[in-house]
Amino acid sequence: MGKSIWKLLFLGFMFLCLNVRNSVSRFVVEKNSLMVTSPEKIKGSHDSAIGNFGIPQYGGSMAGSVVYPKENRKGCKGFDDFGISFQSKPGALPTFVLVDRGDCFFALKAWNAQKAGASAVLVADDIEEALITMDTPEADSSSEKYMENITIPSALIAKGFGETLKKEISGGEMVNVNLDWREAVPHPDDRVEYELWTNSNDECGVKCDMLMHFVKNFRGAAQILEKGGYTQFTPHYITWYCPQSFTLSRQCKSQCINHGRYCAPDPEQDFSSGYEGKDVVLENLRQLCVFRVANESKKPWVWWDYVTDFQIRCPMKEKKYNKECADSVIKSLGLDGQKIEKCMGDEHADSDNPVLKDEQDAQVGKGSRGDVTILPTLVVNNRQYRGKLEKGAVLKAICSGFEETTEPAVCLSGDVETNECLDNNGGCWKDIVANITACKDTFRGRVCECPVVDGVQFKGDGYSHCEVSGPGKCKINNGGCWHESKDGHTYSACLDSEDGKCQCPQGFRGDGIKTCQDVDECKEKKACQCPECSCKNTWGSYECTCSGDLLYIRDHDTCISKEAREVRSGWAAVWVILIGLALAAGGAYLVYKYKLRRYMDSEIRAIMAQYMPLDSQSEVPNHTNDEHERA
Ligand SMILES: *[C@@H]1O[C@H](CO)[C@@H](O)[C@H](O)[C@H]1NC(C)=O
Ligand SMILES: *[C@@H]1O[C@H](CO)[C@@H](O)[C@H](O)[C@H]1NC(C)=O
Ligand SMILES: *[C@@H]1O[C@H](CO)[C@@H](O)[C@H](O)[C@H]1NC(C)=O
Repeated sequence: MGKSIWKLLFLGFMFLCLNVRNSVSRFVVEKNSLMVTSPEKIKGSHDSAIGNFGIPQYGGSMAGSVVYPKENRKGCKGFDDFGISFQSKPGALPTFVLVDRGDCFFALKAWNAQKAGASAVLVADDIEEALITMDTPEADSSSEKYMENITIPSALIAKGFGETLKKEISGGEMVNVNLDWREAVPHPDDRVEYELWTNSNDECGVKCDMLMHFVKNFRGAAQILEKGGYTQFTPHYITWYCPQSFTLSRQCKSQCINHGRYCAPDPEQDFSSGYEGKDVVLENLRQLCVFRVANESKKPWVWWDYVTDFQIRCPMKEKKYNKECADSVIKSLGLDGQKIEKCMGDEHADSDNPVLKDEQDAQVGKGSRGDVTILPTLVVNNRQYRGKLEKGAVLKAICSGFEETTEPAVCLSGDVETNECLDNNGGCWKDIVANITACKDTFRGRVCECPVVDGVQFKGDGYSHCEVSGPGKCKINNGGCWHESKDGHTYSACLDSEDGKCQCPQGFRGDGIKTCQDVDECKEKKACQCPECSCKNTWGSYECTCSGDLLYIRDHDTCISKEAREVRSGWAAVWVILIGLALAAGGAYLVYKYKLRRYMDSEIRAIMAQYMPLDSQSEVPNHTNDEHERA
């Protein structure tokens, strides 16, 4: 009884604060596009609003076939109660269930559709109005059970468009649509700015647990992105202020600092016990200052370490949510405690705190972002993120904020895979025999790209065909050629030296692709036909033996005597060497003699010429003939 009065009082109070603060609250609905691809007559693009639950495929798109159930059209009950299943058959497009708005939470409709096998849920509005964001129900025990487990994306569509779809479906048409989130986050450049509106309060039920879980899980990726200069992250904390006339009230005193300027709700929603709202404001302020000090020393990512360490080491449950514990975390992270103190200022001063003032100003919507009024809120490139606060989904949203091709590696890693390739191979080319696929999961959804396998490049459109281009064709699936193993031998018809041409190897005959048959060399009298030979066919070859002491010489396909061959060849070599030596010696002698004679002749001639005239014309030939005769 006492507790619920406090709760009422508290809610009314916060309501007051909010309304005073933002007399005209701006709320921007985040949209994605819904494209009808068939039937022809209703083809076209429509806006749809991204729900605040489930997992939108930021940066990607998703095709599906729309089904409007015959019963349970609002999706408020489990579809299995009606014997309805939306599980699509293998190879068929995924099913998008169209349900009507009304009677229950949006999230429950999505949950029921998901349980029945739907891949996405479209909610048709029931009144003509501008699109709204389908919000999560206020945490209560019945919705808490399934909220966490909704993984399919959801979209609200306008009433008129919903009716068009229903008409086509009831007319027996197959209605195919494409949900597209590629423009849901602007992607102007190679750096993504994002902010998380968070809270240090760790005792507020499912929402706090989810936020803490997210920060813990996302920290690694956030730090990689920040250290690489890919992102600029800023944490933010919502504070409210106490209306002037209440500043001296007990509520304001326990929930606010700086004389009612900065307030947070009491963590236990009970002013009489436990932690007070102002404890939360102070810790929020400390976390803001940790960020500022870390940012000044060019290490803004240390904030993630502080926040996760604080959660682990200083939980409210263990009564450690206090300055002392915070200081020990600051110390162990090597942060400058004095600077942080200075940044935090005096909580009792009747003046603005510059850090918290900035936060209140930032809460007001600007540009394409609406006012921040709910926690947690994630804003990526100045657009509010919709959907579940979960590592993979958030990473996808951040990754889709990069200009295409400038995404860092973490965006293409397994963390953000869509697993679309698991389903029907994503519609990409596949070689079943070699188990090679062109389907590649990325955060943008699957792409069909001919792969590189074992260093062998495939080329083609990626959808209907890919083939090896360049060397190495035989490595993949044996180049599509015949190959077979038998009796410890393996033969392949693939010729790597001839660009993967299929040709039966020696000893086989056939087309080289499907078949190569063993040639029976013995029967076809191709080998081993000499009188002493006896032939035996083998797979891919033959064996030939010679009778007696003879030896089969395969190269010459003949039998010879073992010894004769040895002796003959031995003597022949000796003879060749001897004759060669003799010839060489003779030649050398002749040259020597000739040179000597020439020399002597010319000397004699020179001497004789001094005494008598010589007929050189007859003298020289004679001289040469002479020489030959003597040799
Ligand atoms: C939600 O998922 C968790 C973990 O997979 C599971 O234990 C839990 O039973 C699920 N809740 C519902 C309502 O299906
Ligand atoms: C963090 O530092 C960068 C430059 O190093 C600056 O542009 C940015 O405004 C700082 N953020 C805050 C919240 O102080
Ligand atoms: C095909 O390859 C994938 C990974 O490369 C492997 O997980 C799968 O088991 C393979 N399938 C078959 C039938 O070999």
